[in-house]
Amino acid sequence: VSVVGVIAAGGSGERLGASVPKAFVVLGGRALYEWSFEVLRGVCDRVVVAVPSETSDLRPQTSDVVVGGASRSASVRNALAAAPEASVVVVHDAARPLVERDLVERCIAALDGVDGAIAAAPVTDTVKEADSAGRVVRTLDRSVLWAVQTPQVFRADVLRRALDVDESVLASATDDASLVEAAGGAIVLVEAPRENIKVTTELDLRVAEAMLEARC
Ligand code: CTP
Ligand code: MG
Repeated sequence: VSVVGVIAAGGSGERLGASVPKAFVVLGGRALYEWSFEVLRGVCDRVVVAVPSETSDLRPQTSDVVVGGASRSASVRNALAAAPEASVVVVHDAARPLVERDLVERCIAALDGVDGAIAAAPVTDTVKEADSAGRVVRTLDRSVLWAVQTPQVFRADVLRRALDVDESVLASATDDASLVEAAGGAIVLVEAPRENIKVTTELDLRVAEAMLEARC
């Protein structure tokens, strides 16, 4: 079994609005992507990082690097293409620097007999569905709702097939598991700590930095 890590770091970070792409913003003395890169490197045989095309000067020197695509899933597909030896793929977003080794290992272990095993936390907010005018349509049953994170671990052959779709389909997917689900794959959830937050805005960056500093 060859376990390959894929770090999706190819986004521009528009909502964060920093002077460099989000994955290259420094927090706690390291580029954002480096935090999860180190964790995945401890668990995987190899880690491939997908970066934005304009960051040649920022590129990690110590790892396999590919140029990302127009969408998140296109970046994952590009990284996977650089790892033909993979039998298991651990996909992780650079935007989640607080991931811990234990979660990655539990996702890999959960891949037994299924196509994918993905990190997710129970939803704590009440979630309502609304129409475009903001009128509430219904209140969803929170007890069956999960907020999905990364890592998302897949059998490599299944993920390759799921990503072999039109760019427009890739662009509309907000995670890789949804593409595997659409192809009929079986996915299981692995309960993850809510601490594994995603850095989207400046507020998230400040929270992540405080949590990383508290850890050291
Ligand atoms: N990502 C990627 N390739 C893309 C777009 C996103 O690899 N074409 C990565 C990002 O680098 C990030 C992860 O996917 O680690 C989750 O995406 P998101 O949080 O949306 O990051 P950005 O797309 O960079 O941010 P924004 O949407 O605010 O521009
Ligand atoms: Mg984005």
